[in-house]
Amino acid sequence: MAKVEVKLNAIPLGKNVVVKWQGKPVFIRHRTSHEIDEANDIDISTLRDPQNDSDRVKNPEWLIMLGICTHLGCVPIGEAGDFGGWFCPCHGSHYDISGRIRKGPAPLNLEIPQYEFADEETLVVG
Ligand code: FES
Repeated sequence: MAKVEVKLNAIPLGKNVVVKWQGKPVFIRHRTSHEIDEANDIDISTLRDPQNDSDRVKNPEWLIMLGICTHLGCVPIGEAGDFGGWFCPCHGSHYDISGRIRKGPAPLNLEIPQYEFADEETLVVG
């Protein structure tokens, strides 16, 4: 399977980047400490698809997800919606700063692809 290499030092703190992997958008967010706190400051039993932030990231500073809405597959918009994360304009799904579904019709959190950190500055997706 083809892999995609991303240089992380090109992504400033608090910014999103979208890369393509196997024809799919992959969202990469360089999260601030405030965003990391926000992602952890929730009772996951209240979530539709209960998942701790720590089970969705390998390094809390970097959130890496497939940019495909789990409702019907549209591409959500970053830095949008009611929960500080992503918003899918197709039917109004709101995802938080961990990519978890919080409101709207999507049944599941945004999916986490296979990835690894080859070194401190290099992400490999796939
Ligand atoms: Fe995203 Fe329907 S495809 S809300």
